[in-house]
Amino acid sequence: MSRLQGKTAIVTGAASGMGTAIAKLFVEEGATVTIADIQDEAGKALADELGSNAHYQHLNVTSPDEWQTCVDTVINADGKIDVLVNNAGIIKFAGILDLSVEDIKTIMDVNVMGVMLGTKTVAKHMIEKKSGSIVNISSADGLSTANALSAYCASKWAVRGYTKATALELGHIGIRVNSIHPGGIDTPLANQMNVPREMFDQGFKPYPAQRAGDPMEVAYAALYLASDEAGYCMGTELAVDGGMTAGHYYYHLPGAPEQ
Ligand SMILES: NC(=O)c1ccc[n+]([C@@H]2O[C@H](COP(=O)([O-])OP(=O)(O)OC[C@H]3O[C@@H](n4cnc5c(N)ncnc54)[C@H](O)[C@@H]3O)[C@@H](O)[C@H]2O)c1
Repeated sequence: MSRLQGKTAIVTGAASGMGTAIAKLFVEEGATVTIADIQDEAGKALADELGSNAHYQHLNVTSPDEWQTCVDTVINADGKIDVLVNNAGIIKFAGILDLSVEDIKTIMDVNVMGVMLGTKTVAKHMIEKKSGSIVNISSADGLSTANALSAYCASKWAVRGYTKATALELGHIGIRVNSIHPGGIDTPLANQMNVPREMFDQGFKPYPAQRAGDPMEVAYAALYLASDEAGYCMGTELAVDGGMTAGHYYYHLPGAPEQ
């Protein structure tokens, strides 16, 4: 497998969930991957598990200084960065009146500022070599919305808009920027009570897949957008959500599943 042979990638939030799946798949496909996260123990353990083509780097995506250190470290080691996956993110379920100012600022800082800082810091090097792929993990909630998730939805719509604006500015230089919109993926962020998969699946019966998604199903989308196979994808929004944002069922009309 060599869809990313010889490429150097940074994956943020890779110590858990989808980031871990993306890092694993990228290494399998021939990339050298920096696992960037604030969970040092889990991140180092993953790097050890993946072998010499994986490195752990402590990175709080909200810190410009830590981004600079991360990027300098990768450039010193590999001389280039081909792929950036802005995956780190947080969520808080609460009604609009119950979200504190601090909650809102924190969500925006990690989910939006983190993506912007990563893009700014990495794009500088990609511009020099006139190539690269940036994959931003937005959400189904960046295409649609949900109750109890107002700040999260706002942050993910911002990522979607930022993706398109950066795709314009960087596309003509040879750098592709695209967003993935996962929905209902079985990770610690979405399945916070860590309920068994069968139980977690129940919440997704109203959608075509009628189940939750696996982190690896998102990783394959990231692999495609990161690879040269996606050479004509710029500002593309790729939903990996089991059909969650495609529409809804009229259960009394033909074509709907059994309730
Ligand atoms: N799970 C889902 O159903 C779902 C759906 C849509 C979008 N997403 C998005 O996918 C991305 C990955 O989420 P996940 O579901 O794998 O969750 P997760 O909680 O398993 O992983 C998120 C990772 O981000 C890291 N992180 C958090 N704050 C950070 C910071 N300030 N700096 C660096 N790393 C930080 C965490 O330590 C963790 O390792 C997030 O952006 C999330 O919003 C998830």
